[in-house]
Amino acid sequence: MDIIIKENYEQMGKYAAKIIASYVKSKPNCVLGLATGGTPISTYRELVRMHREEGLDFSQVKTFNLDEYLGIGIDLNKPYDMDQSYARFMHEELLNHINIKKENVYIPDGLTKDPEKYCQWYEEEIKKAGGIDLQLLGLGCDGHWGFNEPGSSLASRTRVQVLTKQTLDDNYEAFYKKANIERSQMPHFAITMGIGTILEAKNILMIVNGAKKADVVAKCLEGPVTSQITASAIQLHSGNITVVLDEEAASKL
Ligand code: GLP
Repeated sequence: MDIIIKENYEQMGKYAAKIIASYVKSKPNCVLGLATGGTPISTYRELVRMHREEGLDFSQVKTFNLDEYLGIGIDLNKPYDMDQSYARFMHEELLNHINIKKENVYIPDGLTKDPEKYCQWYEEEIKKAGGIDLQLLGLGCDGHWGFNEPGSSLASRTRVQVLTKQTLDDNYEAFYKKANIERSQMPHFAITMGIGTILEAKNILMIVNGAKKADVVAKCLEGPVTSQITASAIQLHSGNITVVLDEEAASKL
């Protein structure tokens, strides 16, 4: 496992984007697993810059997103601020600004009428694509990947997950509150790739920033592997693992 410590959030994002770009350049039809949240924004910004200024080509790249709130999806009739779907986030932060083909973008459908069947289909699509070459991951404050809340099986597959109070609080503060959406209006369920699904990615790139995640970073990387901190499963992965941290997130290692 390579642990890279960068000075700040912007540098973390630039470094992570460089790693992603190296996969895209060496395998133009690579399959990327993508994440949402505040953490990857600087990474996506840098990828957009590389596309615009250096011609980084996404025309053959396929992407699979980790998760989506259940009950919401892109609704173009709603003003942007009222739509906190991860689908909308991905389009605004990255997908609308690069030359990726629409049919190569997979984001769990939060509006599906049959979540169970949909989750199986999503798993099959990942397999059909040949698996994920590089999975980008953030880290929740309670140590989760995607929406794999504490207690999720480390062998779990794509499924519906109930969100914990902490995750609802964190995501309310980071996104919903700013959009003036009542906390009671937040979806309490989500579709997420499982930890078992994530561990099948050939390579892993985890990015974390900020002092408030320093404790959980140390537990995840140096503590025991436990379903109470689902991202500690990173220690079980056998491919290339790169963890890019800013100095604050690395301060308890
Ligand atoms: C959410 C997402 C995760 C993300 C986490 C951390 O729960 N489902 O994929 O890693 O938040 O988010 P942030 O980067 O905003 O701290």
